Amino acid sequence: MPLAPLLVATAVEAALAAGRIHRQYFGQNPEIQKKGRIDLVTAADIEVERMCRTLIAARFPTHCVLGEEAATGEGASGEGPYRWIIDPLDGTTNFAHGLAIFSVSIALEVDGRLSLGVVYDPMAEELFTAEVGQGARLNGVPLRVSTRATLEDAMLCTGFPYSVREARHRPVDLLGAFLRETQAVRRLGSAALDMCYVAAGRLDGYWEEVIQPWDIAAGAVILAEAGGKASGLGGEPFDAFAGHVLASNALIHDAMTQLIREVRHRP
Ligand code: IPD
Ligand code: CA
Ligand code: CA
Repeated sequence: MPLAPLLVATAVEAALAAGRIHRQYFGQNPEIQKKGRIDLVTAADIEVERMCRTLIAARFPTHCVLGEEAATGEGASGEGPYRWIIDPLDGTTNFAHGLAIFSVSIALEVDGRLSLGVVYDPMAEELFTAEVGQGARLNGVPLRVSTRATLEDAMLCTGFPYSVREARHRPVDLLGAFLRETQAVRRLGSAALDMCYVAAGRLDGYWEEVIQPWDIAAGAVILAEAGGKASGLGGEPFDAFAGHVLASNALIHDAMTQLIREVRHRP
């Protein structure tokens, strides 16, 4: 059963409004604070999250909201069947450096099942949308994953955690292994867009070893509806809260899990 149209319309409205706020702040030297050594937050992150929470609370006062910048804030603690999972600005480091690769990511979980995903890149004006069972779209046009079936022909993407300094060697080991086996590996800086680009066939696969639910929840719906596959790094069923992710066009998924397994079992 399709979701109520107001749910979908609200997600799209929030994403487009978020993009307007991003554009207002982008390149204006927004005030930057540090949540960690290299983990930034700008006035745009905060303003977008506040706007999303206000819009959702006004339309759906009983819904829960899990947002990156106020994980336990207003609206986050409800118990109802609807939970919005929001990253107000995915790609904050790019944003803070004036690099125009970032997005807003909005997912809706219904009874614990990810049901709706909207990711908007305001600089490219690309709106990725998907509702379970209804297909994925980019600016209204249906999306499909690539048909590349081997690692040798594949272009992949990855990301690195803010805790990279404390990480053991695996991020670099895995990167090295995929670099040797594929056509190319990129690091774009917005996990939500990484997932959408796999959905759009621009990339064939993406992995990240430390990741948060708001980075990937919306992208997972979009990817699945475009014919792709998401899982944990070991190939286990996808769980946005698992802390790691592997996404692909489905055709190279087994080859990716196999290589990850090999690297993990190296002494
Ligand atoms: C980050 C981006 C980045 C990924 C990091 C995320 P943020 O999100 O998605 O691509 O590698 O793991 O934390 O902090 O810009 O919202
Ligand atoms: Ca993020
Ligand atoms: Ca963010």
